[in-house]
Amino acid sequence: MGNLTVKPLGYALGAEVTGVDLRQPLEPMLRTAINEAWLRHLVLVFPGQDLSTTEQIAFARHFGELDKHAFQPRYTHPDHREILLVTNKLIGGKPSDTRNTGRNWHTDLAFTPRPAKGALLRCKEKPLVGGDTMFTNLYLAYETLTPRMQAFIEDMEAIHDVSLVKGIEQRDPEKVAELKRLNPPVAHRVVQVHPETGRKSLMVGQRIRGILGLSDGESAALLGFLNEHAQSPEFIYRHRWSVHDLVMWDNRCTQHIALPDFDQTQPRLMLRCSLEGEVIGRLLEPGKARVDDREALMQQLAAIA
Ligand SMILES: [Fe+2]
Repeated sequence: MGNLTVKPLGYALGAEVTGVDLRQPLEPMLRTAINEAWLRHLVLVFPGQDLSTTEQIAFARHFGELDKHAFQPRYTHPDHREILLVTNKLIGGKPSDTRNTGRNWHTDLAFTPRPAKGALLRCKEKPLVGGDTMFTNLYLAYETLTPRMQAFIEDMEAIHDVSLVKGIEQRDPEKVAELKRLNPPVAHRVVQVHPETGRKSLMVGQRIRGILGLSDGESAALLGFLNEHAQSPEFIYRHRWSVHDLVMWDNRCTQHIALPDFDQTQPRLMLRCSLEGEVIGRLLEPGKARVDDREALMQQLAAIA
């Protein structure tokens, strides 16, 4: 196992992993140890990993199939669709739509029936200060509710809506219209069971339109409480990036927010691989779109790009 060291970074979640060179082939035992640490700490930080895009992809593949970023094909790496460029730098001479990605609390791809399993984000360039990412532990958010509240929300479904992505109205209107057309509202259980740990978590966030079966007022009150609870400071790990950090999070039991707490005139460049998740949600208007077929969707989007 070499010198693999896992050091917790926060009480609720987050751990730093050192003593491993991610450029090297990953031995099965090492892969198992990293996966166990991931399931325990939810967010792993691997500092000082100066990886090429190919090396990042190779490491990520040890943990699942990679998403081809069909929803943002214009912002993938020119040679590797598995890598999404999250940046405020110009792409093709134009400001990137990813410059303000993730500005409200969310689960990646929860606006589809198939949210991501997880993601691996690498920092290549960063502003002098800020550009932090916060993660919250949704197991703790669920476990600290009273049994009566847990029972109340047990069978509830929340309506996730892509149009609630913060800042979406500042993107290219044509592409946003297409994004909405391809992603009609989708319902996800508020209480999720993690497929590997069996633990329950509270899947909420700021891109939720309402709760099925509740009135607007009831939904707003309940979601207001659940979101405030899930975003309690004691459930959060805030990552301050260093160049060559690789951060790997479990999207099935955490949510996150990318903070705009930095000078936008300074370049920030992050490279993301996303792990494909299971289909856990359902379309409220079946037949309106096929969002489970990523390749077909990517072709549609490429055609309009
Ligand atoms: Fe995200």
